[in-house]
Amino acid sequence: MAIHPPADRIWWNEKLTAPEVIWISVAFVWGLIMFFAMIYWHAVGDQNLSNEAYKISPEVFAERTEAMVEKYKVREEGDTGIPVVRPPAGSDIYMLGRLWEWWPILELEKGQQYRLHLSSMDWQHGFSLQPANINLQIHAGYEMVITITPSETGEYSVVCNEYCGIGHHTMVGRIYVVDKKK
Ligand code: CUA
Repeated sequence: MAIHPPADRIWWNEKLTAPEVIWISVAFVWGLIMFFAMIYWHAVGDQNLSNEAYKISPEVFAERTEAMVEKYKVREEGDTGIPVVRPPAGSDIYMLGRLWEWWPILELEKGQQYRLHLSSMDWQHGFSLQPANINLQIHAGYEMVITITPSETGEYSVVCNEYCGIGHHTMVGRIYVVDKKK
């Protein structure tokens, strides 16, 4: 209820007034609700991934990504010849972010499980998979590993949603999900 500094400097010895008690209680209860909502939403919200993260140097991550590309490349796309890679079902797959691209393009099989490793070669990028609701911050020096089983065929876009410099808006990648039976 104070607009001006308290006349009595020892304000913490003053008795709480009813409105103050009410506001403190409301804020405290709301804080508790928000805290438990985080835990609740993690379990039922269908949007938070249970992530694994490990330390890894950009050099080692690049080596693993390049090894996968060399082994399983099926074609190239675009003016810049971005490799399209079709790794075997059930394997560890890699996608690296750097100024300003997600590399390479992955072609995955519907209904198969993969371990997707993500890391950055330089600084922070965002991995936003569209239209699926997957959204991760990717940092250099760490790899995020997510276990995925694509359930729908189609073309998915990876959009960088962390501002990363002048080419940020051009930083997109792609994942294809195909049905082997067709
Ligand atoms: Cu990478 Cu924005």
